[in-house]
Amino acid sequence: MTGTFAVTVRTSADEERASAAEEIVRGLTAEPKTLSPKFLYHEDGSELFDEITRLEEYYPTRIERSLLECFGAEIIDDVRPQEIVELGPGNSAKSGTLIGPALRAGTLKRYIPFDISEPAVREGAQALFDAYPDLGEVVAVVGDFERHLSAIPRPEGTRLIAFLGSTIGNLHPDERKRFLAEVRGLMARSEDALLLGADLIKETSIIEAAYNDARGITALFNLNSLKAVNDLLGIDIDIDLFRHRAFFNAEHSRIEMHLEAQTDVAFTLPASGNTVRIRAGETIWTESSYKFTKDGLGEALNETGFRNVRWFTDPEEMFALVLARP
Ligand code: SAH
Ligand code: AVI
Repeated sequence: MTGTFAVTVRTSADEERASAAEEIVRGLTAEPKTLSPKFLYHEDGSELFDEITRLEEYYPTRIERSLLECFGAEIIDDVRPQEIVELGPGNSAKSGTLIGPALRAGTLKRYIPFDISEPAVREGAQALFDAYPDLGEVVAVVGDFERHLSAIPRPEGTRLIAFLGSTIGNLHPDERKRFLAEVRGLMARSEDALLLGADLIKETSIIEAAYNDARGITALFNLNSLKAVNDLLGIDIDIDLFRHRAFFNAEHSRIEMHLEAQTDVAFTLPASGNTVRIRAGETIWTESSYKFTKDGLGEALNETGFRNVRWFTDPEEMFALVLARP
């Protein structure tokens, strides 16, 4: 069968650059200094994340993949999706665990991956298109899931929206609520479903090891945010002056990733002419990765209009797949 393959880029590269620059300036002039986690995936960042997923210490990918392999067919049998929208799939490495069973069930017509990293989503979507000749249509969308969800094509049948990898954990509670409510809005039918991957609270040493791997790949991923700043603002901050730090903040139930200045650092922002000063020991907060309880996440889903929540977990309850209906 011959299918159709298309890539929609939601905004122009110039527009993206301008809005990213504004966002970066806002974050670096705030207190504490922050950068959006999306900058981690700039250029080489997606490949660094891919390397993280293969690290011994980084358990989430391994466990989620085994859950998908174990329960993917059951989930597909429950939803019988005609289309799968996947938010933040990166290179779609796990997507076959849903696409394969949905094609075997004879229901799936269309796969819509949506990601901010154009090279990752192009490469992943093309690989799936080539691997599954029965997949009628692949429409990849490049955009920011906090701003551009409206670029997703209108539903053409029962829709399964997958948001895997615990990327939901990279949103702060207010952002999470806004995002889930918007995702709920992408569902037109009561049979539609959301499949969320979520990392669960566990022993702190296991969580912290996952973000402080021995090979230092997570450190390179973290430092990539500053490479993004240099590239997007056209400046030259010395990346070697910063050190990767990641620790579990128990009060907020989240890993925090920071870049800590090893010495006083100052640089000028081209747009405003403002000088950013970072004292030795001060940090730029680059990512939060919330860890959930089943009750807490269930409540967040209920509050944003989801019901009928089904849980799929490993025996140690390290990670969960959550299937929720509008
Ligand atoms: N789902 C994959 C990848 C998770 S990594 C897995 O489970 O392994 C997070 C993914 O979300 C990356 O591909 C990154 O490019 C994408 N992403 C991060 N922030 C985003 C944003 N604001 N909008 C769209 N995609 C984003
Ligand atoms: C994609 N996201 C859920 C990963 C996480 O675990 O928060 C990103 C990551 N950050 C450091 N290592 C991996």
